[in-house]
Amino acid sequence: MMKLPEDFLFGGATAAYQAEGATQEDGKGKVPWDDYLKKEGRFSPDPACDFYHQYPKDLELSEKFGINAIRVSIAWSRIFPEGYGRIEPRGVEFYHKLFKECRKHGVEPFVTLHHFDSPSTISEQGDWLNEKNIQRFVEYAKFCFEEYQDEVKYWITINEPTSMSSQQYVTGTFPPGEKNNFNKCFQAEHNMNLAHARVVNMFKKNGYKGEIGVVHALQTVYPNSESEEDKHAAALQDTLDIRCYLDGTLNGNYSKETMSLMNEILDSNHQAHIKIKDEEIKELTKAADQMDFLGVNYYFSKFIKAYHGTSEIKHNGTGKKGSSVSRLQGIGEQVNRTDIPMTDWDWPIYPKGMYDMLMRIKKEYPKNSKIYITENGLGYKDHFIDADTPVDDQPRIDYLHDHLVSVAKAIQAGVNIKGYFVWSLQDMFSWTNGYSKRYGLFYVDFKTQKRYPKKSAYWYQKLSETKELK
Ligand code: BG6
Repeated sequence: MMKLPEDFLFGGATAAYQAEGATQEDGKGKVPWDDYLKKEGRFSPDPACDFYHQYPKDLELSEKFGINAIRVSIAWSRIFPEGYGRIEPRGVEFYHKLFKECRKHGVEPFVTLHHFDSPSTISEQGDWLNEKNIQRFVEYAKFCFEEYQDEVKYWITINEPTSMSSQQYVTGTFPPGEKNNFNKCFQAEHNMNLAHARVVNMFKKNGYKGEIGVVHALQTVYPNSESEEDKHAAALQDTLDIRCYLDGTLNGNYSKETMSLMNEILDSNHQAHIKIKDEEIKELTKAADQMDFLGVNYYFSKFIKAYHGTSEIKHNGTGKKGSSVSRLQGIGEQVNRTDIPMTDWDWPIYPKGMYDMLMRIKKEYPKNSKIYITENGLGYKDHFIDADTPVDDQPRIDYLHDHLVSVAKAIQAGVNIKGYFVWSLQDMFSWTNGYSKRYGLFYVDFKTQKRYPKKSAYWYQKLSETKELK
């Protein structure tokens, strides 16, 4: 039996665009997703799980089920509908009400400033590729720190910059849907590191109360065999997914090896190297020295083999097992392993990868020691029977249990992990897979917006009480 620490936070995670709905309400500005989802004929972002109106219910349930922290994000476009300039008071008020409700239920809010939802005006002007937008992000962040300083203690600058830039510019699964543009991807990566750094430096300079960090998607990348070729392919994939971010935000500089692997990817794709100024590195270093915590999102690991062709991407957005393909020119091919269990969306279930990642951070990036697991969970096709029968999501319980064991083992091995957030608190939609990929502890009937605790919610409640893992 393993035990999690007495002061460990048991959280649930959400994100504004995926949960709130109400995309046209109270003067909210547009985001690229509004038109993109329509154009692609994917699904509607409304009503999502109607968190905009249902949050009191979700927080009441959180308290009842022993959940003492929640990840929420502020929709930049609710506060600044055009990204800068005009402020929308109704948006500002909504988050006051939300944070007050959190406090009422003893649920600590961890607040993300950017979770994949730049306002449309910002995105039309180049999103993270335009330096002006970095300044606008800093202004928006400053507004939030001033406005909510009495209600929020934990701030997260940006959620998963790696998912954002690679899906915007390499796989094309996020708007604007560009493919194979590694130059834009790496430049956006660096600019997001910089935007994060400027916000951290401003937060510390102005002496706001509380803590600030960043959240990264940290899937462990393994070579699919011991061959040198596969090892090198894995190092290239790791550079695209992980290294640039950990180097930029935790070390405050890119190592020689990272730069050389990044340039190798760009050269193999006949694309220009990115621009990084010396002064910018100084800003990254200063922020890395001052940042309070790292948020780790972990869902799966990747197994990479060498690949010498042109890029080919097929996204499994339907939940039909084995339908995804990921071969990247100048990097490698992701192998769908048959010896490792996979989710219906082709994500290998590999709790050891989480342990290995936590140990790697401790070893390679010792500067910032405090970690929260800010997302971890299983996308699953849950079956609802009736209001009196909790949804039987045993595979989710097994998934959460096994990953929490990895967390407990990492704590034993000296990693300073202070809390864990299940993705997700309640069912909501998935950006590229719609409403059928459910993650919640609470089942949501998207027609009535009623919530029903799943079996996993009862399991999590007990864990939060006893802290014991079998
Ligand atoms: C993370 C994001 O990438 O993973 C969440 O921060 C997202 O917003 C989650 O929903 C699960 O991914 P997906 O693609 O299954 O929804």
